[in-house]
Amino acid sequence: MQGRSMKTLVVMNEKGGVGKTNIVAHAGWYFSERLRTLVIDLDQQANLTKTLGAYVGRVESVALFDEPTKVPSVGSLTVTRSTRELLGVEGADRECIETFRDSLALNADDYDVCVIDTPPALTNRTFGALLAADAVIAPIGMNDYSIQGVTELLRAMKGVAQHYKRPPHLFLGLLPSIYDRKSRRERELFESLAGEVGKLLFPGVVAKRDLYSRSAGESDAVWNMKGAAARDAGEEIRGVLATIAQKMELGE
Ligand SMILES: Nc1ncnc2c1ncn2[C@@H]1O[C@H](COP(=O)(O)OP(=O)(O)O)[C@@H](O)[C@H]1O
Ligand SMILES: [Mg+2]
Repeated sequence: MQGRSMKTLVVMNEKGGVGKTNIVAHAGWYFSERLRTLVIDLDQQANLTKTLGAYVGRVESVALFDEPTKVPSVGSLTVTRSTRELLGVEGADRECIETFRDSLALNADDYDVCVIDTPPALTNRTFGALLAADAVIAPIGMNDYSIQGVTELLRAMKGVAQHYKRPPHLFLGLLPSIYDRKSRRERELFESLAGEVGKLLFPGVVAKRDLYSRSAGESDAVWNMKGAAARDAGEEIRGVLATIAQKMELGE
C-alpha cells in the first residue's frame, strides 16, 4: 500500500443512537487487519475513545482543528482521543474547518484509510469531516427514518463540495444499523424506504443484536466472540465493511 494516498470515510447522521459509533469501531478493527488505519473520534461523548482505548495515541482530536497536525501511528490502528475541548471547536473561527482538512492531508502518506466518528449535529466538526472526506455513510434507525434529516445531510455534503470547490463525495448510502427484523413495523418501514429512496440505500444492513452492545462494553469485535450468534454477527458486519472497502477502492 506504500505510496497510495489515504482515503477518508465519514460516518454521519444528525441523529444520535443510530449505531454510528458501533460501525466506526468495527471499521477500525476490520480495516486495520490489512490497512494502516486512522480513526478520529469527534464526538465529545467519547464512546469510541473508550471502546478503542487500547489504540489511542498521544494526539487529541481537537488538536487537528487548531493547526495542521501529524498523528504518529501507534500500530496498524491509531485513534485520536475525544475530549470535552471538542465543544470549543463550535465557537471557533470557521477557518478551523480547513485546518482540519489540512491536518488529514498532512497524514495522507502515513495511513491507507481514515474513519471519522461524528457528533449528532451539523457543526464545525462535521463540516470539517465533510471537507476532508472522500466517502460518507449514514447509519439510520428504522423507527424515525425521517427523510428530512437525510435531506439535510445530502444538502450539507453538496454545500461543502461547492463552497470549498472540491469534488463531490462518494455517498455510500443509508445503512439501517440497528435493524430489528422481528419487528413488523420496522420491516414495513424498511420496505417503504426501499420503495421511496431505494437508490440511496446501502446494499446491506446491520441487524439489532445484543452482541453489539456487548462488543462496545468488552472493547472487542463481534467476530471475536464465541458461539453461533457471534459467527452470524461477524459475517454480517464484515460483509458490510467489505462492501464499503470495495466501493472506496481500498484495495487488498
Ligand atoms: N446493531 C446493533 N444492535 C444492538 N445494539 C446496537 C447496535 N448498534 C449499536 N447498538 C447499541 O446502541 C447504542 C447506540 O449505538 P451507537 O453506536 O453509540 O450510536 P451513535 O453513535 O449513533 O449514537 C449503544 O449502546 C450501542 O452499543
Ligand atoms: Mg456515537
